[in-house]
Amino acid sequence: MKRLVVLASGRGSNFKAILDEIKAGNINGEIVAVISDHHDAKALDIARENEIEAIFGNGKAPEYNDWLLGTVKTYEPDYILLAGYMRIVPKAFVEAFAGRIINIHPALLPSFKGLHGQRQALEYGVKIAGCTVHYVDEGMDTGRIIAQRAVEVKDDDTEETLSARILEQEHKLYPAVVKALCE
Ligand code: GAR
Repeated sequence: MKRLVVLASGRGSNFKAILDEIKAGNINGEIVAVISDHHDAKALDIARENEIEAIFGNGKAPEYNDWLLGTVKTYEPDYILLAGYMRIVPKAFVEAFAGRIINIHPALLPSFKGLHGQRQALEYGVKIAGCTVHYVDEGMDTGRIIAQRAVEVKDDDTEETLSARILEQEHKLYPAVVKALCE
């Protein structure tokens, strides 16, 4: 069984999608901790409801970075899954877990990096949007791509409707990648 640590800043729906597949016995891994930089993140509630260690931590560099690195290390993870984690991962963290940090981004990288990938896609006027699961390197959303799913943009899409359809695909893509990594 692979040991998985999740970093999440908010709602936690991608974390939940992965957890559901683990609970269904479809992924050969276990989530050993969920760490959030927001004390009221829904992701922490979901973790607690499922008897997974839920850890809140926040602060400024370098203290926060040291704390995060030290805390994650204690769990000896095989993979660290960023699931709506809205901070840049520090260099020392990327180095410590090289090739083992995975992120999901709501756009077809390398387009529309950073915040609000769905809004950027709509504003640009692309006809195909989507989501990407990729390794995390020192850049922002620049690491090697593992898998992508495309979503058609409709003429009457708003940021909300497009985001919702992309999220549906995120919930399929991320668990599928985690399943593959754990095999
Ligand atoms: C997801 O859409 C994810 O792709 C995005 O945040 C949302 C988190 O939702 N991540 C980024 O934008 C990272 N740059 P969730 O908390 O319900 O999984």
